[in-house]
Amino acid sequence: MPSRIAGTGRYLPTEVLTNAMLAQRVDTSDEWIRTRTGIGQRHIAAAGEETSDLALAASRAALARAGIAPEDVDLIIVATTTPDMIFPSTACILQDKLGAHGGPAFDVQAVCSGFVYALALADKLVTGGMARNALVVGAEIYSRILDWNDRGTCVLFGDGAGAVVLVPSAAPGLLTAHLHADGRYRDILCVPGQVQRGAVTGSPFVHMDGQGVFKFAVKVLADVAHEALDATAMTTDDIDWLIPHQANVRIMEATAKRLKVPPERVVTTVDKHANTSAASIPLALDVAVEDGRIRTGHHVMLLGVGGGFTWGSAFLRWA
Ligand code: ACO
Repeated sequence: MPSRIAGTGRYLPTEVLTNAMLAQRVDTSDEWIRTRTGIGQRHIAAAGEETSDLALAASRAALARAGIAPEDVDLIIVATTTPDMIFPSTACILQDKLGAHGGPAFDVQAVCSGFVYALALADKLVTGGMARNALVVGAEIYSRILDWNDRGTCVLFGDGAGAVVLVPSAAPGLLTAHLHADGRYRDILCVPGQVQRGAVTGSPFVHMDGQGVFKFAVKVLADVAHEALDATAMTTDDIDWLIPHQANVRIMEATAKRLKVPPERVVTTVDKHANTSAASIPLALDVAVEDGRIRTGHHVMLLGVGGGFTWGSAFLRWA
């Protein structure tokens, strides 16, 4: 049986850090950040708040919307680049906090494309009959891997989590998904540090070639959207809502322009959430479902791109 999303949910930490507040810490300005990125503020996790806690709150909201009890969840996939610890996976920690013991649980590491990767995998497991109530989560605490003295990166990211519940369905909800990676571009966006013999070696902070990322992202996002349209014999006119990875409003606008999707059909939350990596797409999806923009029968194109480099699309018919 095909799969469909039965519920969405989100969680954003309480603390809000505005551009003006950031400008008191590093040499930047609200005007610079807004003009170059479209970001106005970001949420920051509290001390002691872990990625699994953000994931837990988003998951509970998604399960409540789907009308599914946590103990009935039989698969958990968490997309994250900022796990609670090296192991066990954040998915296993989330499973325990939810009280959903027994089914498979694992993390997917595809950076900002992680949610699209996780959704595509969960779809295969649901359609293959291995799971009936799958929880797919994107959750991140980027504030802990940023160099807060580097104005080139610290202004771009935020913390948050988004979740969906995927269930079998008579009519297909997830129409098609397409995933890619090219490791030759691994250096343009990375956190190169590692833990060795009890110490961190190399930099534990986000490093980025901003212009390299920009060019790459715009090209592959449009290409992978076309791949999904070709696979479903649809055109860009059929896209009711475009939800690209929320990195930067200029990347999103350039992608929409290449696809000839008008700006009013692009869901944008980067202004309020900044770039929350794997959480950005499910956060934006939940916002647009909750405010009533996404309705039954609408076609929704999710587009992810991130470090690796990785990229992918998931094309949905909302059911
Ligand atoms: N505030 C003020 N000035 C700044 C800041 C800041 N926060 N950051 C950089 N600058 C300065 C630079 O030092 C430079 O100054 P100089 O000319 O005196 O040397 C000047 O602004 C221009 O710097 P550039 O890096 O050339 O600025 P650019 O126009 O390329 O914008 C940006 C930088 C916003 C990062 C852009 O390259 C971009 O949008 N890239 C996409 C990257 C992105 O979105 N990354 C998110 C993660 S990637 C992902 O999620 C897939």
